[in-house]
Parts: sequence; structure tokens; C-alpha cells
Amino acid sequence: MKTELPPGPRTPRSLQTLRWIVRPTAYMEECRRRYGDTFTLRIANEGSWVFLTDPEAVKQVFTGDPRLLHAGEANVVLLPVLGSHSVLLLDDAAHMRQRKLMLPPFHGDRLRGYAETMREVTEEAIRSWPLGAPLATRPLMQALTLEIIMRTVFGVQDEARKARLRSALSELLRWGSDPRRVAIGIALGPQLTIRLGLFRSVLQPADDAIYEEIAAHRAAGGLEDRDDVMSLLLQARHDDGSPMSDEELRDELMTLLTAGHETTATGLAWALERLVRHPDALERLREGDDDYADAVAKETLRLRSPISLVLRRLQEPMEIGGHLLPAGVNVVPCIYLMHRRPDVYPDPLAFRPERFLEGQGGTYTWIPFGGGVRRCLGASFAQLEMRIVLQALAERFDLSAADPRPELMVRRAIISSPSRDGEIVARARTAAPSETSALAA
Ligand code: HEM
Repeated sequence: MKTELPPGPRTPRSLQTLRWIVRPTAYMEECRRRYGDTFTLRIANEGSWVFLTDPEAVKQVFTGDPRLLHAGEANVVLLPVLGSHSVLLLDDAAHMRQRKLMLPPFHGDRLRGYAETMREVTEEAIRSWPLGAPLATRPLMQALTLEIIMRTVFGVQDEARKARLRSALSELLRWGSDPRRVAIGIALGPQLTIRLGLFRSVLQPADDAIYEEIAAHRAAGGLEDRDDVMSLLLQARHDDGSPMSDEELRDELMTLLTAGHETTATGLAWALERLVRHPDALERLREGDDDYADAVAKETLRLRSPISLVLRRLQEPMEIGGHLLPAGVNVVPCIYLMHRRPDVYPDPLAFRPERFLEGQGGTYTWIPFGGGVRRCLGASFAQLEMRIVLQALAERFDLSAADPRPELMVRRAIISSPSRDGEIVARARTAAPSETSALAA
């Protein structure tokens, strides 16, 4: 069998890249209609992207040999910010070594321990929300998710150091989410970007603040009594018994911040955007059932996934989806198109959290967090956070849309965000009839 690329548009690479940048969702849908479940786009500086939207093909990638399907290599544009030890950028044995050290804080009891902090931070933040006027929720959610990461991941307690870290990190995140800067970063490549004076001037304060926090943790001691992620990583040991170096720690903390902050904030803004247009779902969320709140988060991440695809670069020719693909191409499990398959999700465009209580969606068909050995490390953390924040908001406020028209999916850097930043109006909650009668009694 000869290697081949699946069908795709024959237009020049530059035009394909432009359409991908300007209207990615419409372009993906058009290609699927024209070429079927597996199709190829040619993207500038990226070679060929072979989109996969069939559950079997996606399963094959997520369960395939990670030595042949590199993900780290495909993320190299993030190198200047994340650093060379970042779990997101490594492949093969080095990736597994680092991932193994980072998994424990994000599972089981550890994770449940963060729920209380998430609740506290949320209650504190929403207390000062202005009521009765349109609110753009995306920036509010960014402030909230940053605060949660600073408390649970960085474990910062001292108020002055927290203020310094908050300001350095939010400046870096604001700087990096400007699409023009992302485009310049891609055009220059990681090595030249690192040398840019302007870039260093934004990165340095964030680096200084993180190293200062690492030193403060080491100096304070008592790590075994603390439960923040940094304390756990400081105690973690590689197989040869060695601890993580300060550089490794810095890179992983920066990775958790970058991967976990805007994604979760955008997921929350989208959940609110959908909920205020689906009053029945909002009402049911108020009943306080955790399973339903989880289903709301899942349905939001299905229909408005902040990330629309994941990438793996083939190291050897491989047969996937009926094609023998050549080494060097990127195979692309497509989250956006998978989540809209009518055979997996009947009436796919309807926002209906109940579908997840009825058992729709599976490991290879609900994939907002990617899959396999690269599946998002913070998936459970993010879902817990979404549940807690949405429940707190529904409990405290009456929520409505500032403008009834649905918001469009627009791209900010690589994240699909609501076009008006998830605008809502929050009002002090009027008690439900059952509560009024309970009070009277
Ligand atoms: C709704 C929120 C989030 C979404 C939609 C999301 C999505 C993703 C996706 C699509 C990937 C790539 C997976 C793949 O290539 O198969 C990923 C990787 C990753 N995410 Fe998340 N993420 C979210 C929140 C978080 C949070 C809260 C954290 C940590 C605090 C986090 C940490 C990571 C890390 C460390 C990786 C790299 C894993 C590896 O390469 O082994 N993410 N995430």
C-alpha cells in the first residue's frame, strides 16, 4: 500500500491557512460535508493536517503508540513561555516521566480538598459583582480562575506576594493572548521569540515571582502538611530518587497556569451564555443536584469546546481511517466536528445537559480534554471548578441574557470564545415559591 493523504481542498496553502484562521468552524464543517469523515488541510508552516472525525479513527490515535504519535513536538510555539521541561512540550519517555510526577495532585482526595478553596474564592469574588447591569463574564471568570490557581496550585498565602504574582501573571497572560503577538511568535519561531526584548520584559517579572514563590516554599518547610500543587511537586521524586529542579518546577507551574486558566474561564463564560438562553436548565441547576451540574459542564464543553482540535505528529507511516498516512503529517482528532455527530449526539446543536444523564458520549466521542497519555491533566479539576462556580452563581442570582441573540464562536489566540464575552445580567435572587412559604411557616 502506498502512502497517501485523504482528500481536501485544492486551493493554495495560503488560502487554506487564511480560511482556517478567519472562519475555522465554517471551514471545518464545509470540508466534512465535501470530503467526508477524514480530510486534509494544508496549513502554512505546519505541513498537512489530517482531520479525523470518526470515533474509531480517533480511538486509534488516542490508544496508539505515543512514540509514533508526538504531541509535544506539535506545541513548540509555546516553548518561549512554558520552557523546555514543560509536560506539554515533551514526548516519549521524558514526557511520561514528567507526567507521572504531576498526576497525583489532580486526582481523588487531593482534588476534593481543593473544592472548599474553589467555593471560598467564588463566594468572595461574586460578592462584589455589580447587579442589574450587563456583565461581560469572560474577564470576570478569568480573574476567578486565576485566583483559584494561585491558591490551589501556587499555594500563595502572603497577600503582598500574591498581589505581585497576580499582576505579573495576568500581564503575561494578557500579552500572550493577543492574536497579533501569537502570529508574530509563529512567524519568528521559538528561538527568535525568546530573544525579543519586549517578550523578555513581560516574562521576567512572572519568572521572578514564580522563583520567589518556590524559594519561599522551600524556606518555610512543613511541605508534607500543605496540600497545594507546588508543595506536592516539591516532594515528588523521579524514578532515580532525584527531586524536580527549580527550572523544572517553574516550567510545570507555568504550564498549569497557561493550560488551566483561560480554558476554564472560557468554558465558564460559555456555560453562562448557554444557561441564560435555557431557563429550564438554569432552574434545574438551582436544585443543587451535583450530577446535573456536571452534565451542564459536559454539555457546554461538548457544544462550545474552548479547544477545537488536538494534534499528533506521525513519526512513521501509519494506517488510520483507511489511509496509509506518511511520516511527518499531523493527525488531528477534531473535537469540534466529533461533538456535532448526529449519530452520537441526536439533535446535536440542541443544548440539552440531560443527554449526559442518559449516557450519551463516550471516551472517544466526548473529547474536550483530548485523550490517551496526553489527556488533559486538569480535566477533573476543571470540571469540579465549573460545577462549583455555576452552582454558586445559580444559587445566589437570577441570571438573564443582556441581549437575547446567541453569541458566536470567535477565536482568541487558539481558544473559541463567546463573541460578546458571555454577557449576562445578574440580579439578587427572588426566592422561589417553596422557599417563600418555608420562610412564612
Ligand atoms: C475546561 C478547561 C480545560 C480544557 C478544555 C482543557 C483542554 C485540554 C486539551 C484539549 C489538552 C490536550 C490534550 C491532548 O493533546 O490530547 C490539554 C492538555 C493539558 N491540560 Fe488542559 N484543559 C482545561 C483545563 C486544564 C486545567 C485546569 C489544567 C491544570 C490546572 C490543565 C492542564 C493541562 C496539562 C498539564 C496538559 C498537558 C498534558 C500532557 O501533555 O500530558 N488543563 N488540556
